[in-house]
Amino acid sequence: MLEDIKEEIGKLRSEAQKEFETVKNEKELEALRIKYFGRKGLFSQIISKIETLEASERPEAGFLINTLKNEIMELFQLRKEKLTAESQAEGRSLDLTLPGRRREYGSLHPVTLILDQILSIFTDLGFEVIESREVETEYYNFEALNTPKDHPARDMHNTFYITDEILLRTHTSPVQIRVMEKSRPPIRMVSPGKCYRRDASDASHSPVFHQLEGLLVDEDISFADLKGVLSSFLMQLFGKDTVVRFNPSYFQFTEPSTEVAIQCKMCRGKGCRICGNGYLEILGAGMVHPEVFRAVKYDPKKYTGFAFGMGVERIAMLKYNIDDIRLFFENDIRFLRQF
Ligand code: PHE
Repeated sequence: MLEDIKEEIGKLRSEAQKEFETVKNEKELEALRIKYFGRKGLFSQIISKIETLEASERPEAGFLINTLKNEIMELFQLRKEKLTAESQAEGRSLDLTLPGRRREYGSLHPVTLILDQILSIFTDLGFEVIESREVETEYYNFEALNTPKDHPARDMHNTFYITDEILLRTHTSPVQIRVMEKSRPPIRMVSPGKCYRRDASDASHSPVFHQLEGLLVDEDISFADLKGVLSSFLMQLFGKDTVVRFNPSYFQFTEPSTEVAIQCKMCRGKGCRICGNGYLEILGAGMVHPEVFRAVKYDPKKYTGFAFGMGVERIAMLKYNIDDIRLFFENDIRFLRQF
């Protein structure tokens, strides 16, 4: 009877909707497809019942069954698309051909490596390592170092001022003053650290860089001691065959002052692309100025001493053949992992 078939169609519709909507994976979906659309599936079963109807009832029954079949087909398609999309997304997070996530090994920064070498040479020579502050006052950075307010050197330094009195140190020399204020001779100390200058950065300038300061004060210290200590240091750092040259120079806080250079190993002092005139300047140095001793209340008649300062990046550039100081501060892992 038509009524019976209509009831069956109704049931089939609600059941199919529920089943297709809750199916969880492609395998289950395929099983459902067979259950409904297979050769012996629910649709063929219900279609085969059309034969049992009166001829006049058959078209309506056929129409209703076909409508339902199309509806369920559409549900099947929708579900299939959704499941495929889901399994693709899942597949991505489980792609076994992807390379693993590698952990980068850390390594010491070239500035740290060079500083370690330099510090070990000086500690072998009996120098103590002292760390100090990067934020300084005008007094320690200039005034106590015999560089009064109107002195042109203050301008030359291109200082980062925080207030009128407080600044980022432009060199490590203020450590000389802090150490002498706190202790009495004999003093033998080195002090590494960052310095700041308002220079536009280029291949040889960076607004932040490292210096190493040195100070030796005692009775009867002469320029010969300065030459001996610094030559010994440079030969340990650059090799026994290093030729060291002391050129006259000028600093406010040392007298006499000298600029210490080593002979270029590429051209042996003849002059080349690397060195220009045959020598590479490595450090500034000199005998501590009596005015500096007066600032820290040392008797300049009793004590003498020498001080020196060097740029750490410059030394690292020479030792490792690096042609741009900015590389030290860019933290490019491809550069850093070479050391
Ligand atoms: N402070 C000086 C500079 O930055 C270097 C220096 C240090 C010179 C100690 C003499 C003595 O150029």
